[in-house]
Amino acid sequence: MTAQELRQKYLEFFKSKGHTIIPSASLVPENDPTTLFTTAGMHPLVPYIMGEKHPGGKRVTNVQKCVRTTDIDEVGDATHHTFFEMLGNWSFGDYFKKDSIEMSFEFLTSSEWMGLDKNRLAVSVFEGDENVFFDDESFEKWKELGISENKIAKLPKKNNWWGPAGETGPCGPDTEIFYWVGEPDKVPESFADDNDQWVEIWNNVFMQFEKNKEGKFVPLAKKNVDTGMGMERILSALNGFDDNYKTELFWPIIEKIEELSGKKYEDCKKEFRIISDHIKAATFVISEGIAPSNTDQGYVVRRLIRRTIRYGKMIGIENNFTKEIAKVVFEIYGEVYPEIISVKEIVFIELEKEENKFRQTLEKGLKEFNKLTLITGKDAFNLYQSYGFPLEMTEELAKEKNFSVDKKDFEDEFKKHQNLSRTASAGKFKGGLADSGEETVKLHTAAHLLLAALREVLGEEIYQKGSNITAERLRFDFNYPEKLTAEQLKQVEDLVNRKIEEKIEVEMVEMPKNEALEKVKVSFDSSKYGDVVKVYSIGDFSAELCGGPHAGNTGELGHFKIKKEESSSAGIRRIKAILE
Ligand code: ALA
Repeated sequence: MTAQELRQKYLEFFKSKGHTIIPSASLVPENDPTTLFTTAGMHPLVPYIMGEKHPGGKRVTNVQKCVRTTDIDEVGDATHHTFFEMLGNWSFGDYFKKDSIEMSFEFLTSSEWMGLDKNRLAVSVFEGDENVFFDDESFEKWKELGISENKIAKLPKKNNWWGPAGETGPCGPDTEIFYWVGEPDKVPESFADDNDQWVEIWNNVFMQFEKNKEGKFVPLAKKNVDTGMGMERILSALNGFDDNYKTELFWPIIEKIEELSGKKYEDCKKEFRIISDHIKAATFVISEGIAPSNTDQGYVVRRLIRRTIRYGKMIGIENNFTKEIAKVVFEIYGEVYPEIISVKEIVFIELEKEENKFRQTLEKGLKEFNKLTLITGKDAFNLYQSYGFPLEMTEELAKEKNFSVDKKDFEDEFKKHQNLSRTASAGKFKGGLADSGEETVKLHTAAHLLLAALREVLGEEIYQKGSNITAERLRFDFNYPEKLTAEQLKQVEDLVNRKIEEKIEVEMVEMPKNEALEKVKVSFDSSKYGDVVKVYSIGDFSAELCGGPHAGNTGELGHFKIKKEESSSAGIRRIKAILE
């Protein structure tokens, strides 16, 4: 089965079960400060899980591009990736455990669909704890479908729970489905969590609680289902491989690395896997307009590229090669994700630039590193500052030598020199759920007012080029060739405040996309939106295609203040603003 056949079959199956097919959201989340990347298919759908109405109805399905940097240390085995595609289906207050499990089982085992041998399946369910009961409903359902009891593991929260760790948001128990990738005639009698030939392929999450600020699990008014199947894993299983890198989503890259290094995949699997995974992820992220840098998403791209170069060196690649790998990535994904092709040249330029930059100092840095017999925070900082070694790379090098690096010491050193990016230190790499807190929502509405005000002051041809909103501030990027004058900034600020004082209702209507596109000027590629869209309008001042959520009335916003206006990249300006 090819990757494209699998994508189509999955969507077709869930369509036949009443689901609306929705497009993949971008990898870089809009308006979500809690995470740098879309880490799961559910991520852009959090508002609907929390009760907003989805224009596609109560059942939706899609194939979502994801980046999960939490898994970066596991990349190198047969099944973990930083970039992957997730096949997902959702119920927003519609079907629940029983139907969800039945549909997954049918899709996987029916000869009409995937036709996998049900004897090679095992599952796990939540065993229960002091807060939430054992998930006997899922347990019984699996038994009824013919999964023997010794292949139904009861596991704790650590394994069978999905939701925000230590934060607030929707959550609940899940049931995971595993596939035996070992010899077909050696399927064990029972499931063992620690046997890596049982590969988790699908996770069905039953979101029935909201964890509140006091840490209590409050039942949600509507119960939701969130599922995610790992595209690379299921494709590998369907083709009889025990290694995702043997599928068509990786193999052409592996062959390219063999050609470039003169080495064989079988002899250096870890290095080949890391290189192919990382450049694939970097290619996708750069194609969303993120250049390597020292903060936020840009820092992740930088780490991915620099780590690749170091692993390339280990297998004898001394010259620039990331662009060659990216070319293969475009061949593999260009048809499915045409948006990456349109910025191909930019991706090549950014990769080359970063590679040149790092190669200039890599040798010297490694020499410096090898002289060390102990790595203090100061040393790590020096490697960062003078040779461009991301901290994580120094840590990894240190680990190879059985040293450790004092992170705190490094950060103290860093703070002495500049402000450590809050996100780089504050666990943003963890991923998580969207924040739909009150302050964030207000700032989101303020961002709509800001765009409309910019259009009025600077001209109709202003478009949003990116935004990032936390509970404290909004950051908004837009196209404009030069620095805004103090007077222009004041006009924009005043106009937004006037609209706040006018206490205008924020209204939402759903309409077919084509109709909406006639009324609303959109900043993003319209193929990103589903067939039915939400239009949020603020009087006749602002109208945008947007998923929400928003404040009910501009009067709730308080006073709008622009804190900073600066260049973001060529031709793009950035405004940071707050509500006080
Ligand atoms: N959100 C769930 C996961 O990513 C389905 O595993």
